[in-house]
Amino acid sequence: MRMYDLIMKKRNGGMHTEEEIKYIVSNFTNGSIPDYQMSAWLMCVYYKGMNNEETVWLTKAMANSGDMLDLSKINGVKVDKHSTGGVGDKTTFIVAPILASLGVPIAKMSGRGLGHTGGTIDKLESIEGFNVAIPEEEFINNVNKNKLALVSQTGNLAPADKKIYALRDVTATVDSLPLIASSIMSKKLAAGADVIVLDVKCGSGAFMKNEEDAKKLAQIMVDIGNMAGKKTYGIITDMNEPLGCKVGNSLEVEEAIDVLKLKDLSDEGYNNLPKGIKRLLEVSLTLASYMLMGAGKAKDFQTAKGQCEEAITSGKALDKFATFVENQGGNKSMILEEGKLPKASIVKPVAFSSDGYISACETSEVGMANLILGGGRATKESVIDLSVGIDIRKHIGDYVSSKEPFAYIYGNDEKSVEEAEKRLLGAYTISKEKVEASKIIKYIIE
Ligand code: URA
Repeated sequence: MRMYDLIMKKRNGGMHTEEEIKYIVSNFTNGSIPDYQMSAWLMCVYYKGMNNEETVWLTKAMANSGDMLDLSKINGVKVDKHSTGGVGDKTTFIVAPILASLGVPIAKMSGRGLGHTGGTIDKLESIEGFNVAIPEEEFINNVNKNKLALVSQTGNLAPADKKIYALRDVTATVDSLPLIASSIMSKKLAAGADVIVLDVKCGSGAFMKNEEDAKKLAQIMVDIGNMAGKKTYGIITDMNEPLGCKVGNSLEVEEAIDVLKLKDLSDEGYNNLPKGIKRLLEVSLTLASYMLMGAGKAKDFQTAKGQCEEAITSGKALDKFATFVENQGGNKSMILEEGKLPKASIVKPVAFSSDGYISACETSEVGMANLILGGGRATKESVIDLSVGIDIRKHIGDYVSSKEPFAYIYGNDEKSVEEAEKRLLGAYTISKEKVEASKIIKYIIE
């Protein structure tokens, strides 16, 4: 087989065989295929696409390119979730302890943030002492003991994806449906869970800007998961504004803890919550409910949701989170006591210059404002400031006045706060007419 012929085949709209895909992935990973040929092939895939079979073969070849995590020593059905990436997405800190407190084992691997999106591992590091790199044996023991452990993705999990993603990043071939689907699912398959719930973000802060593309991506990923023998669900959720109120590493952990501390989730209690928290709760409870059903612990969505709500209001999910933090070397008083997480020294109220309704948000720009404050990574090597971020009090459809702050910026130097303020204000559109916010749960593929 020659890479030249395979590039030409895809360039002419041909369909690869499984052998051809395995050849491309293994020979690129071991360095026999040079970057320039792989880049040309990726661009052909970008323009000509791949059918479902080719996408499944690509996923499997990438998943098999390195370590496959063996979770067989963990008792019970192992359930995982994955978000395609957004701004203010802290659902893992809510969903994982809920499931663990209901007896479902969660052995999770997560990533760091890059660009405008945040990463679970960075957020966890805002908890003093928390170790994101515990050895595999301790990871498995923690799940068997406490039902929950979470570590940073190991270097040799789907190494083909790591190499291909780095090349896509610099050749404008990231936003291709089969390449995104195979990239995400290769890591999920290698991470070893039995059930996978995918949170596919859709909107101005997501890879998929419109619902049609998000549905297509979700469907391909669900098909890949099911074909690999994993029960897989795809939940399409809105990312046309940040999820919840807070954006920034320690601020997001704080907001997740606030949700785990809620005591009243009756209709009245729920209605009294701030809009951002309601949306965060709705996404979290939907993901958690599907995970619970996937684990075989609830017969339908309403039953599952009721159990998840009870895990919060009883305080069991919060206790589970605190124990999880302690088991991984973290200071659990940071979870149980208020005001102990890192906080930036400057808190700047931000208001719009005119009155009206928030009608749109360029969500990735809110993520960029956090990056400017030092809370995100411009490159993989960037060191981030875990204490900075933004607390957004008004959302799409809300009335804002020039006399009242709609957000607070947390920063550690005046210059970056000023720059972040401009970026944040520029992210929003204000109109005279009231606009309804998009539904937070857009579509579910079961
Ligand atoms: N996240 C991934 O892991 N891969 C992609 O291609 C896009 C988002």
